[in-house]
Amino acid sequence: MQIAIDGPAGSGKSTIAKLVANKLGFIYCDTGAMYRTATVMALRLGLALGDEAAIMAHLKDLAITFKPTPDGQQVFMDGEDVTLAIREPETTNNVSQVSALPAVREEMVRRQREIAATSDIVMDGRDIGTTVLPDAEVKIFMIASVAARAQRRHKENVAKGIMTPVTTLEEEIATRDHKDSTRSVSPLKKAADAIEIDSTQMTIDEEVAEILKLVAAKVQ
Ligand code: DC
Repeated sequence: MQIAIDGPAGSGKSTIAKLVANKLGFIYCDTGAMYRTATVMALRLGLALGDEAAIMAHLKDLAITFKPTPDGQQVFMDGEDVTLAIREPETTNNVSQVSALPAVREEMVRRQREIAATSDIVMDGRDIGTTVLPDAEVKIFMIASVAARAQRRHKENVAKGIMTPVTTLEEEIATRDHKDSTRSVSPLKKAADAIEIDSTQMTIDEEVAEILKLVAAKVQ
């Protein structure tokens, strides 16, 4: 079974997707982490972030892998643990530019479909229900207010020792929403057959329960 969870930055997708995957014994794939890793690579190499050819020349052979851990998931770039580096503000503020490059998206979508072909999966991102896994049995589109999303990201960041103020996070989230929704290739968009969940007033347990109910309805 394929479960696609899309939505804007900080809507709680990753937290929920991870929990749903754990409950069901499915693998979890955080596609945002893949675009973030490509961004870390480009920044480290000093590549111009609009230089698609240069980025692709390096990305082609870059291994991006995941390792599940009890409290989340580690991300590796050619074997190096980049779990923290991909959440740094410099990465966050530049990832929209890298993820808007058509060749980068094509490469990532190809890799994501390969991962999905190996197992039952919960995949989260922006274009999973519309582009990556258009035949996913369950498609969720998660939304939440900008204020709620900034608060959540702040909490996550503090736990990781990253101290960006909430107001800055609100601005970053609004800017990223705009860029992600208006880019020409695979913009953030709800799939016609996706079910929208507004998590602003919901607890994590309620959101997970809601999705498990949708999954149960599908397997009957
Ligand atoms: O979910 P996130 O904040 O980690 O995503 C990081 C960036 O990657 C975000 O700006 C949008 C982009 N992204 C994308 O374009 N397509 C995806 N499937 C996942 C993320």
